[in-house]
Amino acid sequence: MINSLTNKPFNGTLETGFSAHPKLDSITGELHALCYDYASDLDNIHHVTVAADGGVKSTQAIPLPSRSMLHECAITENYVLVLDLSILFSFYRLGRGYFPFSWNDEHQARIGLLDRHGNSSDVKWFDIDPCYVFHTVNAHEDGQGNVVLDAMRYQKLFDSDWNGPFGEHSPLLTRWILNVSRGTSSEQQLDDIPT
Ligand SMILES: [Fe+2]
Repeated sequence: MINSLTNKPFNGTLETGFSAHPKLDSITGELHALCYDYASDLDNIHHVTVAADGGVKSTQAIPLPSRSMLHECAITENYVLVLDLSILFSFYRLGRGYFPFSWNDEHQARIGLLDRHGNSSDVKWFDIDPCYVFHTVNAHEDGQGNVVLDAMRYQKLFDSDWNGPFGEHSPLLTRWILNVSRGTSSEQQLDDIPT
């Protein structure tokens, strides 16, 4: 028996795909997710905000021509962090029956700050060294003009191994500090234990 609710997530208010890893703002009760479905929209991802009542409050298209693999985002008081990193959608691998994303040295890895309170789809981007992140740990604004992200950083992935995130590199806890007014970023490995 099919439960009709399974076809109508968030009380039927969701117009896009969703994400494995939305982020809950425990103060407002809002859930934030960055969602992609390159089968239906190759040029945009969507920032979906779900209100505390369980219905989608807003859906905002964000241009992302790189078609990068988004697994998780992070939020701070004022921003949603967009991780546009070094693994991109690959028609080449899709057509050969492999996982349809691959490492790409041509793409400038970057972290974006999207104003989570505004209507603008403008993202302020910060270039970083090539890497991939499946999972974030936390993010915050430090009160001195910086946005700080802690996440598990892979040096390289889906490059020699076309089937999965196994054996190429291990994820290491890393901190990025983004200076909002200067547009600069710095990176620091916080531990050398694979996690
Ligand atoms: Fe995950």
